[in-house]
Amino acid sequence: MSMIYGERVRLRANEREDLEKFYAWVNDPEVTQGLALNMPMSMAEEEKWLNAQRDPHEKPLSIEVRKGKGWKLIGNCGVFSIEITNRNAELGILIGDKTEWNKGYGAEVMSLLLRHCFGTLNLNRAFLRVYAGNVRAVRSYEKAGFVLEGRLREAVYKNGKYDDVLIMSVLRSEWMAKMKEK
Ligand SMILES: CC(C)(COP(=O)(O)OP(=O)(O)OC[C@H]1O[C@@H](n2cnc3c(N)ncnc32)[C@H](O)[C@@H]1OP(=O)(O)O)[C@@H](O)C(=O)NCCC(=O)NCCS
Repeated sequence: MSMIYGERVRLRANEREDLEKFYAWVNDPEVTQGLALNMPMSMAEEEKWLNAQRDPHEKPLSIEVRKGKGWKLIGNCGVFSIEITNRNAELGILIGDKTEWNKGYGAEVMSLLLRHCFGTLNLNRAFLRVYAGNVRAVRSYEKAGFVLEGRLREAVYKNGKYDDVLIMSVLRSEWMAKMKEK
């Protein structure tokens, strides 16, 4: 499968060489604050994750941004839990390189994943789960067109307190309407 290109970002298949950075990121409490990761992760677990058998459409993708004439790995993302009949799937993203937060890359990646979901995978609904306290993430998803759909009250316990889990989604019809505006 060819790479997915945006203006400043590209999504490519994961490589074994990426694992060192992934390992550092999933063990960084600042990065995992908004994720369902509570235990230290080993390199063996990372390798298992990389090599897991999954639907080819659900393979995680590495996020790279333009740096000079080359590309820099900053995180990973993916589409998972694809439901064939419902044409529905969940999206996820992790930008592990904290120096690259708040530069609009998250919103661009999610826009690319939406284009992939609707334009390539022919899905009808793409949703995600985000902790209410993860304000940066919520704002980034709003910029990409996600709308708040529901709130699972106190559904997660993290760092000594409960937080709500928000469900945000984009429907194919909404995405099509937005494309026509452009
Ligand atoms: C969440 C994540 C994907 C967002 O990507 P990003 O590239 O950092 O975010 P963007 O630049 O697209 O958007 C961030 C927005 O939040 C705003 N923001 C950041 N911190 C904020 C805060 N404390 N309060 C209010 N707004 C905030 C930024 O100003 C920006 O909005 P603006 O463009 O209107 O100014 C990325 O930070 C990340 O991967 N974090 C770690 C893992 C994680 O939490 N993943 C998501 C799990 S659901």
